[in-house]
Amino acid sequence: MTAAWTPESWKQFPAAQQPNYPEMGELDRSVDQLRRLPPLVTSWEIDHLKDSIAAAQRGEAWFLQGGDCAETFDGCQTESIASKLKLLLQMSLVIVFASRKRIIRVGRIAGQYAKPRSSDVETIHGVTLPCYRGDIVNGFDFTQESRIPDPKRLLRGYDRSAATLNFIRALSEGGFADLHHPENWNLLFVNEVKGEVAKRYRDLVRSLGDALKFMETILEGSTVNELRRVDFFTSHEALLLPYESALTRPSIRGIGHYNMGTHFPWIGERTRSLSGAHVEYFRGIRNPIGVKIGAKVSPDELIELIDRLNPENEAGRLTLIHRLGRQHVEARLPGMIEAVRRKERRVLWVCDPMHGNTVSTAHGRKTRRFDDVVDELRLSFAIHHACGSHLGGAHLELTGDNVTECVGGSRGLTESDLESAYQTQVDPRLNYEQALEMAFEIAGKLTESRAP
Ligand code: PEP
Ligand code: CO
Repeated sequence: MTAAWTPESWKQFPAAQQPNYPEMGELDRSVDQLRRLPPLVTSWEIDHLKDSIAAAQRGEAWFLQGGDCAETFDGCQTESIASKLKLLLQMSLVIVFASRKRIIRVGRIAGQYAKPRSSDVETIHGVTLPCYRGDIVNGFDFTQESRIPDPKRLLRGYDRSAATLNFIRALSEGGFADLHHPENWNLLFVNEVKGEVAKRYRDLVRSLGDALKFMETILEGSTVNELRRVDFFTSHEALLLPYESALTRPSIRGIGHYNMGTHFPWIGERTRSLSGAHVEYFRGIRNPIGVKIGAKVSPDELIELIDRLNPENEAGRLTLIHRLGRQHVEARLPGMIEAVRRKERRVLWVCDPMHGNTVSTAHGRKTRRFDDVVDELRLSFAIHHACGSHLGGAHLELTGDNVTECVGGSRGLTESDLESAYQTQVDPRLNYEQALEMAFEIAGKLTESRAP
């Protein structure tokens, strides 16, 4: 591992979770085209995010990361993108208002198209085909034609990411994100949402409006320009290495290579092997990066992983996203925190309360119980506090669409409700109310820990 790093040095290592392309020449042609296309994000934006994450490591900001488990090419549509952004803006408003901390908004968006799977193949009624690995690899339809991995999809993935990102940039810079008009963030179906959570949110918006008016009166009629726009960053699991390395470019400032396909790439739980290609790829890029940490990681392994990915112990570089599950968080998290503290490694701790809590219903639907999700988050806050550390963010699978994929929450969704609007192709997401409820939960915890 001491050999020189290049954007393609990962090819010398075993790469888990890659598709079996039938024809490698076709892959090379797609990669060559990708290499000539312009970057989607810049090294300045990436460095800005790294500085913000360093602030979160010092306890000055909260990291909110959320979006679909898997974006789809078909989901690249006005309302679906806008409603994810609306929901994340609403959630961040709830959190900022209570915690008085800055917020770092990161979407699982504009590139979250590749998925790790537990098996290479899927069998239905005796027919076996390659498994679905995300729209950037193959199609979801269970036919031979759609399931064969197609390298041309890399270019479509780039195009869809660019279209999504362009729309997000326009919305976050312009009038849409203006804090004086939070009514812009109402979801299309929001008037039908009558529950307690939606009411709490509307009350909060009212108090916010009053507070803004008060402040602007004090400032003698001027408005605070900072409140007219928001920073919004993109992230995805950097799983499909030919795509990621094709978008990895030297900075024009001559300070190393950046993955310019996203601001914040992360390594998944299934590809974080120390001897594997993903860790090799990630160690050389300058982006702030995340690593998912499951219940099987020992404290010693965790330190080795940290040292491989952040040997200089640089601030803002490394975010550990623990996804231990309600069942394991109490047993596993304290040892991890203790090891990191003892060795004085700089990391941002983020809780993903989704991926350790996936269960199957009797009908074979993948779901998550909202109570497990909330419990893991609450326990994580308490464990960090007890260990003299602090939780700095949450990583959630959510959607602004009106789905029924996770059970529980204020509307009390049951297993039979799952049938009415179950749309995800991979993991179950929180819907609008469940996500807002999580935001209030986070806000409550951050308020408790706020100095008086
Ligand atoms: C995911 O974030 O969708 C995912 C697959 O997570 P993990 O790597 O934690 O299993
Ligand atoms: Co997922």
